[in-house]
Amino acid sequence: MTELHGQPVHAPGNSEQPAHEGPGQEGPGQEQPYDLVVTGVRLVSGDGVVAGGLAVSSGRIACLLGPRERPPARRTLDGGGRHLLPGLIDSHVHFRTPGLTHKEDWAHAGRAAVAGGVTTVIDMPNTLPPLHTAEEAHRKAELLAGTTLVDHRFHLGVTGDDPSPLRSVGPREATSVKVFLAGHHTAPDVVRDPAQLEKVFRTAAEAGLRLLLHAEDDAVFGLLDSWRGAPAGYGGYERHRPRSGGIVAVARVVELVRRHGTAVHVLHVSSAEEADLLTAAAHTGLPVTFEVTPHHLSFTATETSRTGARARLSPALRDRSDRERLWQAVVGGEVATLGSDHAPHTRAEKLRPPAEAPPGLPGVQEMLTAVHTGLRRRAPEDSPDAQLSCLARLLAERPAGLFGLDERKGRLRPGLDADFVLFDADERWMLAPGAIQSKCGWSAYEGWTMTGRVLRTVRRGETVYSHADGQAEFGSPDGRWLDARRPGDLVPR
Ligand code: DOR
Ligand code: ZN
Repeated sequence: MTELHGQPVHAPGNSEQPAHEGPGQEGPGQEQPYDLVVTGVRLVSGDGVVAGGLAVSSGRIACLLGPRERPPARRTLDGGGRHLLPGLIDSHVHFRTPGLTHKEDWAHAGRAAVAGGVTTVIDMPNTLPPLHTAEEAHRKAELLAGTTLVDHRFHLGVTGDDPSPLRSVGPREATSVKVFLAGHHTAPDVVRDPAQLEKVFRTAAEAGLRLLLHAEDDAVFGLLDSWRGAPAGYGGYERHRPRSGGIVAVARVVELVRRHGTAVHVLHVSSAEEADLLTAAAHTGLPVTFEVTPHHLSFTATETSRTGARARLSPALRDRSDRERLWQAVVGGEVATLGSDHAPHTRAEKLRPPAEAPPGLPGVQEMLTAVHTGLRRRAPEDSPDAQLSCLARLLAERPAGLFGLDERKGRLRPGLDADFVLFDADERWMLAPGAIQSKCGWSAYEGWTMTGRVLRTVRRGETVYSHADGQAEFGSPDGRWLDARRPGDLVPR
């Protein structure tokens, strides 16, 4: 037993108990006890937070419960007044299979995901070889079966010279396609030619696919490199990959959307100017949404000199004023999704000379707690309920809607998969190297004091992660390749 607000409650870390199945006990409207009943939680949705609980049958949410309801169940979980978030959907991860498994694999990354409250991921196609076709998506799903804890989908990749494979992609395989407008160490397919890009936008619009953009302009960077040469140290990195690359690319993307009506989601927006342009474009009614990453909300360019290559990213970290503009976009509802851009590289790769060290960092495990910590720090007077509600929107509801998963995932709602996260919004703790689950074994947040901790993650009714007394426990790796529906309207909601 422990104390919360003066009330004795069961400690949630170890309170999943066999239920009392007394004679004559019946659930509301059903004869069998539920598989799992969660009580004593604050249920979080994008609309707000209410006290209550929920019941689970056959991996799905059977019903939501009022604060005093305790129907019979095979197992019960007392949340001790903590928050229960929907299982998070990270729509931007690089889990590196196939071909780059020395950096990451789905066994490690699945553990990192569920330890961070993420029960569904959508993986990026820049693997070796890259993922381009519907058939390859089926083969990749077979390869992953039985290897990971986390449910998953894929974004397809595309080449500029032949976007025709997009025509034979149905929602079973993908609802979205990643396009790189700038190259770097792990970007194999860069669409540089304007005529080819035009064709990609047209084909995606005809096929009803959403384009995900790495919107930085390769020509801008090439021009600067031809003048300044490659970066000599970590400190000057931002000057080599400046905001002008992002601004030019975003302006081009908006113009292409205007011409073709293609739905686009712009990834890892890093500067105030890009956020302004994209918000303005959405305001005119164009089907444009954008994503912000935890690292662009957590660090600034000065960190690149302090943290060295760990904070070397593509797009680069920017200034404090950019970071503040991104926070405003998060809390003000301009941002559609948060994505971790979990992009691990080995320590040895990161320690290469500045021009050769690949950009990217792991983040799927750190995302929820890092952004929650930032929200608390930035506005300690705001209600924790409102902050968590914002996170439920950006990390569950909106990605579910954008990528056609909203009939199964994204909310605590009867009929949907029983994916949820028990979160202690007040616990303060330090991220120690031993807690890192990614195969790369490091984190840019090491040594950070975090506010808010994932205590337990349940996916389709099964506990896949629990944490008590410094010990992490994981479930079995039965994450599934999910089906999706084509998002009903590709216009942002
Ligand atoms: O920093 C990054 N790393 N940005 C990307 O767009 C890709 C990623 C990677 O794959 O390493
Ligand atoms: Zn990425």
